[in-house]
Amino acid sequence: MIVKKEEERSLEIVITEEEINKKVVQLGYLISQDYAQAKELVIIAVLRGSVYFAVDLSRQLTIPFTLDFIGISSYGTSSDPLGIVRITKDLDTNIAQKNVLLIEDIVDTGLTLNYLLKNLRTRNPLSLRVCTFLDMPGRRIAAVPVDYRGFEMSDMFVVGYGLDYNERYRNLKVIAVLK
Ligand code: IMP
Ligand code: MG
Repeated sequence: MIVKKEEERSLEIVITEEEINKKVVQLGYLISQDYAQAKELVIIAVLRGSVYFAVDLSRQLTIPFTLDFIGISSYGTSSDPLGIVRITKDLDTNIAQKNVLLIEDIVDTGLTLNYLLKNLRTRNPLSLRVCTFLDMPGRRIAAVPVDYRGFEMSDMFVVGYGLDYNERYRNLKVIAVLK
């Protein structure tokens, strides 16, 4: 049997594990402060990319919350998104009159987030905020609100900490650029 050997590409680290861990602790502290008085916080992680960040961040929170997931599929690929979004797994939670914090891996063109926010707003949450691990404001097509961000980055395609290239590299503990 011939096993096709996958092309190995080298990775250049742009955010280290230590920097990521430190940032997640800071964000967890900030969000815990901001929501200290808020009742019924629902944290929504967007499948699949934001799961790594959402899990780590949620463990830093000192406030009560429930966790839910929404699955989306964008037409196009992760390196060339088209902004047409379809929900592949809906929430299990009714978010009406609840405080919602949406967790994203990256806000790039903003098209995905724009769609998600429009969709979630129709469900009448009490509040709706966005926390993204990475923010690339220079690539924006849709103007979207970002309430919490891990790192602001310039225009480059990155992988790791949930972000993939053709479904690979999600489990990297760093953020890296593919060479
Ligand atoms: P948008 O362009 O803001 O709509 O981002 C769409 C989605 O494309 C993100 O949620 C990611 O899944 C993916 N994406 C955008 N930029 C990158 C990147 O640099 N690396 C990996 N995935 C990306
Ligand atoms: Mg995504």
